[in-house]
Amino acid sequence: MGIRKATEVFHDWALAGKDKGMEKGHSSAVAEMLTFIFQQAEKSQKEFTAIDVGCGNGWVVRLLDKHPLCTSAEGVDGANAMIQKAKEIDSEGNYSVCLLPEFSPTKRYDMIHSMEFLYYLKDPKSMLKLFFDNWISQDGWLVVGIDHYKENEDSLSWPEQVGVHMTTLSTPEWLDAWQEAGFSNITTWQAGEKGQVTLVITGQKK
Ligand SMILES: C[S@@+](CC[C@H](N)C(=O)[O-])C[C@H]1O[C@@H](n2cnc3c(N)ncnc32)[C@H](O)[C@@H]1O
Repeated sequence: MGIRKATEVFHDWALAGKDKGMEKGHSSAVAEMLTFIFQQAEKSQKEFTAIDVGCGNGWVVRLLDKHPLCTSAEGVDGANAMIQKAKEIDSEGNYSVCLLPEFSPTKRYDMIHSMEFLYYLKDPKSMLKLFFDNWISQDGWLVVGIDHYKENEDSLSWPEQVGVHMTTLSTPEWLDAWQEAGFSNITTWQAGEKGQVTLVITGQKK
């Protein structure tokens, strides 16, 4: 099987209705990631803006938007059909087709959430640096969930199975990359049901 662009594969997944399965499969890990985000916001009792990067059909954007301290939530994804679905589900929502790492936002966000997106990039380490330099407000948080990494052996066959590029790093390599990008207060844990395979990493721009 040839290698296809991840955004083309996920465009087809959205057309085939597979976005719903991802939503279900990722929901318990994402619930932990959102709890972390909401705890940070509630600690400071400050209103916050949020973005979900690689948002799929936008389900996490809609959860972020429900929090009383959230003043705006938006989603970006490079797959046209994913964004079309997001807009069909929520015509008032803020969802855009954006290809990363090329897209650069015109404003900064207090909370950046991203589930199962970063390793599809050829150079996720540079994306972390871009998040730090161009995307996050001072004191803001980046919260990322990753299922494909060296220690999760079941995930190592995915690039061949799915036919897309995935950058395979170990947990220490991911953590080093966060440090090199400039993040402080880096925390990590295993999240989700069934063996808790999601590697969550969070960091703050201080
Ligand atoms: C595994 S899906 C996860 C979707 C969503 N976060 C969820 O949990 O349901 C990965 C998403 O990242 C998007 N993506 C992958 N590479 C991308 C790129 N270079 N630019 C923008 N989006 C990309 C895909 O289109 C896809 O919707």
